[in-house]
Amino acid sequence: MSESQLWDDVDDYFTTHLAPEDEDLTAAVRDSEAAELPHVAVTAPQGKLLHLLAQTQGARTVLEIGTLGGYSTIWLARALPADGRLVSLEYSPRHAEVATRNIARAGLDKIVEVRVGAALDSLPQLADENPAPFDLVFIDADKSNNPHYVEWALKLSRAGSLIIVDNVVRGGRVADAGSTASDVQGTRTAIELIGRHPRLSGTAIQTVGSKGYDGFALARVLA
Ligand code: SAH
Ligand code: DHB
Ligand code: MG
Repeated sequence: MSESQLWDDVDDYFTTHLAPEDEDLTAAVRDSEAAELPHVAVTAPQGKLLHLLAQTQGARTVLEIGTLGGYSTIWLARALPADGRLVSLEYSPRHAEVATRNIARAGLDKIVEVRVGAALDSLPQLADENPAPFDLVFIDADKSNNPHYVEWALKLSRAGSLIIVDNVVRGGRVADAGSTASDVQGTRTAIELIGRHPRLSGTAIQTVGSKGYDGFALARVLA
C-alpha cells in the first residue's frame, strides 16, 4: 500500500468516528465539485480541528481569509453562538457565489458574511468599520501574502486571539530557504515574523492526510 493511500485510509477512519459530515457539509462538497472549484478545502478532521479551536477560544467572532466554497467557513461558523459573526474574504466572485449558497443551506447566513475582493483591499475597509476584535483568524488564501495577512490579523484582534495559517508546509518546501516560489517565500516570511514578533507566541505542526503532506501554524496574540 502506498503511503498516501494509508493517509487516506486513516483520514477516512478519523472522519467516520470523529468528524462525520452531515448533509449540509456533504452538499457543500458536492456543489463545490460541481462548480469545478479547486479541491483544496480543509479535510473533515481539519475542519473539526478549526471548530474545536474556535470553541476553545470561546470565539464569538471569526475572520477567515480565503472562503473557496465555504467548507471551512461552515465548520468555523458552527462553533459560534447565534449572535456570533464570521467575516470571510474571497477574491473570486464565482467561489463566493458557491460559498454563499452552501452557507445559506447550512442555515448560517445570519452569522456569516462573505466579502468579495482581494483581501488586501477588503482588510483596510473592514478595519475602517472598527469591528469588535476577532477572537480567531483563519488565514487560507494566496500564500504569497501570508505576512501581510498575519499583520492584518494582529491589527484586527485582541490579547488572547488565535491566528491560524493553513498550508505552511506544502510537501516540505517551506524548509527550502533558496526557494524562489512566491508561496514558499510568503509562508517563510510569515513564520519568521510570528517567531520574532513581540506580540505573538506561535508554533507550526506538520500534517499528513488525504490532502497530502502539509501543516498549520498557530499563533496566540499576547498583548
Ligand atoms: N478556506 C477554504 C479554502 C480556501 S482556498 C476551505 O478550507 O474550505 C483559497 C481561496 O483563497 C480561493 O478561493 C481563492 O480564490 C482565494 N484567494 C486567492 N487570492 C485571494 C486574495 N488575494 N484575496 C482573497 N481571497 C483570495
Ligand atoms: C492550495 C490552497 C489551499 O488553501 C490549500 O489548503 C491547499 C492548496 C493551493 O492553492 O494550491
Ligand atoms: Mg488551505
